[in-house]
Amino acid sequence: MHPRGSTRTESTRTGSAVSDVLVIGGGIIGLVTAWRAARRGLCTAVVDPEPGGGAAQVAAGMLAAVTELHYGEETLLALNLASARRYPDFVAELREASGGLDVGYRACGTLAVALDADDRAHLRELHALQSRCGLESEWLNGRECRRLEPMLAPGVRGGLRVDGDHQVDPRRLAAALVAACERAGVVFHRGWAERLTVVRERAAGAALQDGTELAADQVVLAAGSLSGRLGGVPDDVLPPVRPVKGQVLRLTVPRAYAPFLSRTVRAVVRGSHVYLVPRENGELVVGATSEELGWDTTVTAGGVYELLRDAHELVPGITELPLAETRAGLRPGSPDNAPLLGPSALPGLHLATGHYRNGVLLTPVTGDVMAEVLVSGELPEQARPFAPDRFSTTASSPASAPSSVSSVSSVSPVGVS
Ligand code: GLY
Repeated sequence: MHPRGSTRTESTRTGSAVSDVLVIGGGIIGLVTAWRAARRGLCTAVVDPEPGGGAAQVAAGMLAAVTELHYGEETLLALNLASARRYPDFVAELREASGGLDVGYRACGTLAVALDADDRAHLRELHALQSRCGLESEWLNGRECRRLEPMLAPGVRGGLRVDGDHQVDPRRLAAALVAACERAGVVFHRGWAERLTVVRERAAGAALQDGTELAADQVVLAAGSLSGRLGGVPDDVLPPVRPVKGQVLRLTVPRAYAPFLSRTVRAVVRGSHVYLVPRENGELVVGATSEELGWDTTVTAGGVYELLRDAHELVPGITELPLAETRAGLRPGSPDNAPLLGPSALPGLHLATGHYRNGVLLTPVTGDVMAEVLVSGELPEQARPFAPDRFSTTASSPASAPSSVSSVSSVSPVGVS
């Protein structure tokens, strides 16, 4: 019988490590899965050349279930809200488990504003959708917006005050998850997974680029945008995940300028989303482009220009601030913009990928859902709409209506982190 829930730790006589669970990918989704699985008593290992790296090093960390609501994504909304509700307890638990690391969770709320009549119409529609979904958001006129955030441009035409959309610092979140994993006994293999090992039509571990063979009773593929490229995974099991590039800037608010912004401020400017996320330590994150350019992570003059131009229209004073960093990362996009969670069609292989715009937000619920399915074999009810089989030809319960986002059907297998 398949020994779920055992607590073995070991190395075989051939030198291969063996674990109950092997997580391929040490970004925040892989790390939270490993931490939660280890806490449930499973002997867990993670393979990644740089645990805690990946998209979390670029992401702004908005927990924007309400302000990032999109038509056709109401099922995803339920998961997003469930995860947002877990954040305060999750952060407290992680602080303790990591030896006291703070992840910069800030219950600051968000203000989404309109700069012209088109933007205002767009925001009014979003407000109506939020109301239909029973979400809390309040319409403010331009003057009320500026009273809340005096640095806003005088031309702001109105906005939505959403006091429930908060933020966390993804870099600190990643560091705390690495520490919590280490303290929970998770074993890190710092290298690239090259191939999934399949034995008698069951996932049985992974082969690393350096020749190391890792064996496990269950494998979780949590490699972000690279999840569709792992060698050895049957074509019909490979997740339909593609990279969606996001360029992000980091500015610094000098002490003399504080408080520059008191909450996250965002807008749609000429059809592009721009957001400014102010941290308590003076960092101001400005994001993000959304580009379908494959694996390209170049920071471009055009990307930086557009972000600064749009952010400047929103908050003219940003041009006074030091520009500290420019960076690009890859969101793991899926065909319906929702994650793939739980068992794949290959026995022993689970997926935790495709979180697209919501990886940071969905971290707590993903950890709990994945630990539960790894321990019990049952995918919790709230995660069933996100089971990977919704993309098989016989699937009957999609997570949301198909969107205009297209999928990548197959890519050549290469190593993943
Ligand atoms: N959720 C923010 C982004 O993906 O840019």
